[in-house]
Amino acid sequence: MFDFSEDYRVGIQEIDREHEGLFALLNGAIDRLGERKESPAAIAGNFLGELKKYAAEHFSHEEAYMEKIEDKELSRQRGEHEAFAEALEHFYIHDNLKEAELRDLISYVVKWLFGHILASDMMIGKVRRDIPADAFTFTDKYKTDIAFIDEEHRTLFDIVREANALVTDDSLYDKYDAIMGILDRLRGYSEEHFRHEEEYMAKIGYPKLELQKTAHNAFVEKLIHIDIKEMRQIDEDQQAYLTELIDYLLSWLGAHILHMDRQIAEWERGL
Ligand SMILES: [Fe+2]
Ligand SMILES: [Fe+2]
Ligand SMILES: [Fe+2]
Repeated sequence: MFDFSEDYRVGIQEIDREHEGLFALLNGAIDRLGERKESPAAIAGNFLGELKKYAAEHFSHEEAYMEKIEDKELSRQRGEHEAFAEALEHFYIHDNLKEAELRDLISYVVKWLFGHILASDMMIGKVRRDIPADAFTFTDKYKTDIAFIDEEHRTLFDIVREANALVTDDSLYDKYDAIMGILDRLRGYSEEHFRHEEEYMAKIGYPKLELQKTAHNAFVEKLIHIDIKEMRQIDEDQQAYLTELIDYLLSWLGAHILHMDRQIAEWERGL
């Protein structure tokens, strides 16, 4: 059973209510599978049908909300929603569908939905625009007081700051290669840092390790996605695209440290 806990709350009532509805659809399918009264094909057909309808409505509400508040992440969000809807279209239901296939479908939806909420929906209305230069500095408020984590977070801030310097440097005409290089470095270093952090959480028996893993993986996925699929978009309007990207990266990083990573040390201290 998936518990729609505080950690998945975006803080916008309508969106949270609908996310809760998506969790309920997932739990419903798992329940029915456990009862063993219906064939996996029947459960899958029903689940997929309801999910497609519910998700389509939810995405359109969410996108309308983002449009209303002029959230610049809208196009990235829309792309992610479309990719999910398309993946669902490719799931083929046949009469002898095996339980394992239904479980694969459920796992895919869980992974996508939870990751998407943590990396994208959580940032609705929260990505800072026109970020001042000093916002790229790792200040005390970000400190967890776990030395190696703070050091690695400082390095992540440094890489994002470097990327921003490149983006805002008007003397560079075609920055594509340099930017791709630095985003690659950001992805590599993020993966390394997340691995260290996860090893540490496992070692101390931190109860929210899975939540952290989901958030980390979704962020890395986002970096990979930028790398491969949005290249054309970068050529079209490089500057605007990159500025928005930097805003997102810095905002996500700050929010993740403040709301998730700091909890690790608080839990350890017994707060
Ligand atoms: Fe979304
Ligand atoms: Fe971290
Ligand atoms: Fe983390």
